[in-house]
Amino acid sequence: MQRGEPVIMLSIGEPDFAPSAAVLDAAADAMRRGRNRYSSGQGEPAVLDAIARRYSRTAARPVLPSQCCFLPGTQTALFATMLALLDEGDEVVVGDPYYATYESVIAAAGGRVVPVPTLPEQGFHLGADALARAITPRTRVLLLNSPGNPTGAVLSLDEIAAIGVVCVEHGLTIVSDEVYAELSFGAPFASPIQLAALQEQTVVVSSLSKSHALPGFRCGWAVGSRSFAERLLSISEAMLFGSQPFLQDATAFALEVETGDVARMREGYARRARLVVEYLGRSPVLGVRMPEAGMFVMLDVRRTGLSGDEFARRLLDERAVAVMPGESFGRGGAGHVRIALTIEDSRLVEACERIVGFSGVS
Ligand SMILES: Cc1ncc(COP(=O)(O)O)c(C=O)c1O
Repeated sequence: MQRGEPVIMLSIGEPDFAPSAAVLDAAADAMRRGRNRYSSGQGEPAVLDAIARRYSRTAARPVLPSQCCFLPGTQTALFATMLALLDEGDEVVVGDPYYATYESVIAAAGGRVVPVPTLPEQGFHLGADALARAITPRTRVLLLNSPGNPTGAVLSLDEIAAIGVVCVEHGLTIVSDEVYAELSFGAPFASPIQLAALQEQTVVVSSLSKSHALPGFRCGWAVGSRSFAERLLSISEAMLFGSQPFLQDATAFALEVETGDVARMREGYARRARLVVEYLGRSPVLGVRMPEAGMFVMLDVRRTGLSGDEFARRLLDERAVAVMPGESFGRGGAGHVRIALTIEDSRLVEACERIVGFSGVS
């Protein structure tokens, strides 16, 4: 590879698709209408209604606006939720591999991540038995991420029900990070709030970041029981003193009006995932399988004899392709690298050609 060759960045999971123009217009219109004043810590009535209606469509019991809170992105919603749920030294069980910021979000709230192993051979699906084995008297929360980052795994409702039995038995709250819910293309998305036995002890966090390619808008939310929402409100007031009303209006619009943008994102990522799987699947050394959702493909590099770290470092040096080592998502990601599907198709194909031609592979 020539020095100075531009690096193809497959490392960062930032959507590259054009955001929904209709949602941009809704934000701009709201701003011009003067929706720029202080808001409440919980959120504006219109967006709370929209969030409640969205979850009422699938939840076991209707969700009320008083159970919802608008927050700046899933990340903030996760942090505020963990602050509300954890005491110093509490444990949070998480399927391993897991999204890299979980560790710091949980630590900042005084908690500790306890990884629950998942297996590539089982599509990285979290199992009830492995979960049960990780629980101790200090466990308070299961942080569930389906569809998962980095794995692209989507748990079925039956799998969630089995996991839920363990959570009920041990009195765990399920925090369900559903930021990729709208990007399920290989398996139907399912949430613990669809199950009556779990709804009361589930907190859902999500946002428009991925579904509408608007990560910079920081439009997210948390939905839980009434008592949880009350606890969250005092944290949200202390942290934020309310979020921007014009962004809340744009979120209400995005949740209520079908523009076709979400389907555009979903189909785009599915098409790119198929491209990558088709190209890299030709290598006798690499292991690649179609993700069930999301913006990433996990590439199994174990047969190269390299770790995910070594593979990523050498691929960058020798072929100018940047990927994330699986190890950066926990031990469960060992021997894998994560490929982000967030560049245009032709560059993605070029990256795949470079990967196949990389000396670690050929
Ligand atoms: C699993 C997961 N949760 C949360 C986030 C953060 O999302 P947001 O932009 O809504 O804060 C991301 C972003 O990549 C993610 O992958």
